[in-house]
Amino acid sequence: MDYQFDYLVIGSGIAGLTFALKAAQNGSVAIVTKKSKVETSTNYAQGGIASVMSVDDSFQLHIQDTLNAGDGLCHPDVVELVVKTGPDRIRELVDLGVPFNTGTSGSAPFDLGREGGHSRNRILHAQDMTGQAVERVLISTAEANPAIQIFEDHLVMDLLIQHQSIKAGSVSLYQQDICRGAYVLDTITREVHTFTAHVVLLCTGGAGKVYLYTSNPDVATGDGLAIAYRAGAKLANLEFVQFHPTCLYHPHAKNFLISEAVRGEGGRLIDRRGRAFMQDYHPLKDLAYRDVVARAIDTEMKKTGDDCVFLDISHRDPEFLVGRFPNIYQKCLSLGIDITKDPIPVVPAAHYMCGGILTDLSGQSSLENLFALGECACTGLHGANRLASNSLLEAMVFAHNAATACAERIEGWRRRDLPEIPKRLSSSGRVDDPQSSEMVLITHNWDIIRRLMWNYVGIVRTDKRLALAKNHIAQIRMEIREHMPNIPLHGDLVELQNLALVAELIIRCAIQRKESRGLHFNLDHPHKDDVNWLKDTIVARNPGEDAVSTVPIKQVDTV
Ligand code: SIN
Repeated sequence: MDYQFDYLVIGSGIAGLTFALKAAQNGSVAIVTKKSKVETSTNYAQGGIASVMSVDDSFQLHIQDTLNAGDGLCHPDVVELVVKTGPDRIRELVDLGVPFNTGTSGSAPFDLGREGGHSRNRILHAQDMTGQAVERVLISTAEANPAIQIFEDHLVMDLLIQHQSIKAGSVSLYQQDICRGAYVLDTITREVHTFTAHVVLLCTGGAGKVYLYTSNPDVATGDGLAIAYRAGAKLANLEFVQFHPTCLYHPHAKNFLISEAVRGEGGRLIDRRGRAFMQDYHPLKDLAYRDVVARAIDTEMKKTGDDCVFLDISHRDPEFLVGRFPNIYQKCLSLGIDITKDPIPVVPAAHYMCGGILTDLSGQSSLENLFALGECACTGLHGANRLASNSLLEAMVFAHNAATACAERIEGWRRRDLPEIPKRLSSSGRVDDPQSSEMVLITHNWDIIRRLMWNYVGIVRTDKRLALAKNHIAQIRMEIREHMPNIPLHGDLVELQNLALVAELIIRCAIQRKESRGLHFNLDHPHKDDVNWLKDTIVARNPGEDAVSTVPIKQVDTV
């Protein structure tokens, strides 16, 4: 099928939905999402949304906390923009009906939690299921909007790029690539569809599945990063992978986070013998910045040889704990851990990608008519380490700015025709039964990449491990290139290609940065180097570089 919309939004988390609801006021919107519409990282966000909402807080304090966490690499103009416009976006969520917990103190209308690196209580939350509460409200509002159509089980394979020659009379001035839509695999019918649109928004979330252990849901395979890179957009700061200090450590717990809000309510990290250790690492102790806490736990585990450390909140009133953390309480109890009595076994796990597709203040990428919002974007807010609970805020602020920028340009875009898609591309291809192929080639390589990244490109890095990882990943990508064309097109194959490319890009960025800053810690360069490295690490596809793609032809020449 060929679909045509004004706006094509890829991803159905807070960024994509917020943009879609605003853009639907002036155009038709398609939201394509690769699994069910609520299967997004937003839906699993526990802690909440940071914003200045009480009289004893100030924009200046939130700005300073964000800059401190970012370790020198935040863009101050972006930090100021996000912090200062954040409360307006929060009020929009409240107006839509998001049930944030309300306050009892009188100094703030909401109950505000605390997380690592924040100098004030400023985390709005809906118990410990904030993301789910936000996702539900946004999805039901979008579903009720006739201008929005949601396509579930639709996986974007690549962008549709128009290669255009800009001329003055008959003289060709320069070449410009413009994003015009995307090729999308319906993973149920296995048909490939073409979606054309005036503007495409990548809101595909993170890439936690690049690592063996992650707090992210299975959908977080870095699709947006890989798609944008293949299309020629610039990416930045991919070496800054945030490891959340406290994921539940249990053989039957998959990707389950123990929110930083637990430490905000007094939880303490202890070792197997019950000794609290964070005072050995930072004056802020258990509420130090996330990179500091994750590295401290890694060090403790390596020192003691233990498989995990423990988070103890059992000194708090049981009734309070059950009311404040019902999700965490129930999940732990189902595995035999009563958090009102027992310390919780925890380990760090890949949680958030601070780098991503480079954007300006409106979310516009370096590629014309391609925007990136949410975790897949690198806006300059997070720098070398994201401050806790700043991510949902960033997604909303940039979705709003992108919608405003698009609203100003949509009439102009409409006057320009969407490109004719050559017949060979517009006819939808149906792909074969994947079960007939050697799926083991996909699962094996998937597993190898994740182990390789965990062991060689994890919390603590060295030059040698990074060099080895680079060689291994090159080998894996070559194997994918050589053998995968014989395997029928399948969603897992598309994701594997994306995962391998994103792994390579993380390694490339990590090798470039010859210092330790924020989330990037390299034992061979253990200090910060402000003289040479107070800058973003930018990567883009070289003109001659082979862009592994699941779509045979992806450029439309309309010179
Ligand atoms: C958490 O609840 O600890 C996660 C919050 C975040 O990642 O910002």
